[in-house]
Amino acid sequence: MHRLDGQVVIITGASAGIGEAAARRLAREGAIVVISARRADRLEALKRDIEAANGRAFIVAGDITNEQDRARLVQETLDEFGRIDALVNNAGYGQRGPIELVPLDAIRRNFETNFFSLIGLTQLVIPVMREQRSGRIVNISSVAGRIARPLSSVYDATKHAVEAISDGLRGELAPFGIKVVVIEPGFIITEFLGVANEEAREIIEHAGPYAETFERVAKGTQRLRKLAGRPEDIADVIFKALTADSPRARYAAPGHAQFALAVKRLLPTRLFDYVLSR
Ligand SMILES: NC(=O)c1ccc[n+]([C@@H]2O[C@H](COP(=O)([O-])OP(=O)(O)OC[C@H]3O[C@@H](n4cnc5c(N)ncnc54)[C@H](OP(=O)(O)O)[C@@H]3O)[C@@H](O)[C@H]2O)c1
Repeated sequence: MHRLDGQVVIITGASAGIGEAAARRLAREGAIVVISARRADRLEALKRDIEAANGRAFIVAGDITNEQDRARLVQETLDEFGRIDALVNNAGYGQRGPIELVPLDAIRRNFETNFFSLIGLTQLVIPVMREQRSGRIVNISSVAGRIARPLSSVYDATKHAVEAISDGLRGELAPFGIKVVVIEPGFIITEFLGVANEEAREIIEHAGPYAETFERVAKGTQRLRKLAGRPEDIADVIFKALTADSPRARYAAPGHAQFALAVKRLLPTRLFDYVLSR
């Protein structure tokens, strides 16, 4: 008997990184994982792997920012399994760059993926869980959901927004037996950084007066690499969020993420800014 036997768990952004690791982990624990992302070939390969290990996976490929794709994800899950036990809102990407240079359209796009689409999908899943009188919604935020940094504050703002609506949802949905949990990963080695650098390539190449700041931040990222976690570390926490009788409102992981949040809590803002600028 596994902890998640037969539970239907939707995971967005399952074609890579944290979502993919979560799909493998939760399927090993007996969950039927409904995996979604734009790259269908990646999802096919993941499904084959999961099934080879005697797990169950169901693919609904799509773009999270597309309203019809979100509706199809929920409808096909219900048609196939008749219920949704958990939703892991994981799809997302980072928008880098100084506020002066990031086009408003790029800022809107980042919010569209990380925030509005997360809400759109959650709105479709809530009535199903409310009817069941049970369910869990796990929102993958970030340490960036509580710490905003130079050259990253657009992304950080999307995650701060995820934290805020998660706090609201937690209270709104508790009476219906639905638990809402936020997960705050630190630096995890995935495709995330590559995607973020690609998204911001134009800005980085024409950084002008911000070139020095970009260089300093790049050095900091390089130093942090030594502490970076693996997607499996976060998959472990997602498993905990789905199985704890009384899950915490938020989990930060790995250790360096907890440390950063503690330092942020303890230091006055100016001192914290100084530490960030080192
Ligand atoms: N890595 C880190 O250090 C870190 C730290 C804190 C928080 N996080 C958060 O963790 C989550 C997962 O990131 P990751 O590190 O695993 O990055 P990743 O390796 O780049 O994976 C991102 C996933 O999101 C999917 N995705 C992106 N845009 C999408 C869209 N429009 N529609 C559907 N799917 C979309 C991608 O799939 P397709 O491209 O195939 O669509 C991919 O499966 C994100 O929310 C990220 O903000 C990451």
